[in-house]
Amino acid sequence: MEPTSDRTEREALATRLLTSSVRTSYDPVVEIDWAAPPVPGAYWLPPRRSSLYGTPLWERLTEEQRVELTKHEVASAASAGLWFETILMQMLIRHYYDADPTSRHAQYALTEVADECRHSIMFGRLIEAMGCPVYRADPVDHLLGRFLKATATGPRMYAAILIAEEILDAFQREIMADESLQPLIRMVSRIHVVEEARHVRFARAELARQVEAAGPLGLSYARLLIGRAAWSIANRLVHPEAYAAVGIPPAVGRAAARANPHWRATLRWSAARVYDHLAGLGLVVGPARLLWTRAGLI
Ligand SMILES: [Fe+2]
Ligand SMILES: [Fe+2]
Repeated sequence: MEPTSDRTEREALATRLLTSSVRTSYDPVVEIDWAAPPVPGAYWLPPRRSSLYGTPLWERLTEEQRVELTKHEVASAASAGLWFETILMQMLIRHYYDADPTSRHAQYALTEVADECRHSIMFGRLIEAMGCPVYRADPVDHLLGRFLKATATGPRMYAAILIAEEILDAFQREIMADESLQPLIRMVSRIHVVEEARHVRFARAELARQVEAAGPLGLSYARLLIGRAAWSIANRLVHPEAYAAVGIPPAVGRAAARANPHWRATLRWSAARVYDHLAGLGLVVGPARLLWTRAGLI
């Protein structure tokens, strides 16, 4: 039985998040002009955030190919985004299954599922509008995702949600503020950032509670799964097939990106906020820390 003060606090936060959801929620199907043609020559990502920026491979690309590469990198991130969202939706629905449906907390969990439903449609429309393929997870990660969405609860569920949401959020905040970029990706990013800010607050509050409630064994297991999730997310941001779109063999592009100091700095920059938060909760220690290092996130 949770203490009354905890329940009051939980309900107060959920009430604020529900009020905010009523005020600022978007339906991307109607808010976005999906038929608008792209702006010729405009990038989809700030070029310095491309995984190949500054490498000899980048130097050899024409300006047009560089723009094309950022488009496919965005399509890859959007594919990863909707894959994570599908996992999140199922985790939240499982959480809701055991919750009190009259509580604001449970109702906010459902509201978040509703947001993610719209986001996944938005990312699907984005990939389609860009004329890019869906960059799917490899079979191992696909299977791991299936396992996570069917079983994850407690700290590992909320920590995985936070990692995916906060890393994408770092990129999207920069994109929405950069007027030189394609209007379509700026609009998609703006909608996502506004709604995700609520998800991050909800997940952070839940995670703090779950960490407090978890035993030492559960926490060690959670740390490892969280580290593996961080590794998957960092690795899945740019699918190696994206390089083929500009004539670079996928394995060559991936190796160049992994060795690229600019890209490594970008990965650390994107994970800085969520890393600080999870490390502060003691979730990045021991062997789990190695997974974060291998992922290039710290
Ligand atoms: Fe989302
Ligand atoms: Fe979200």
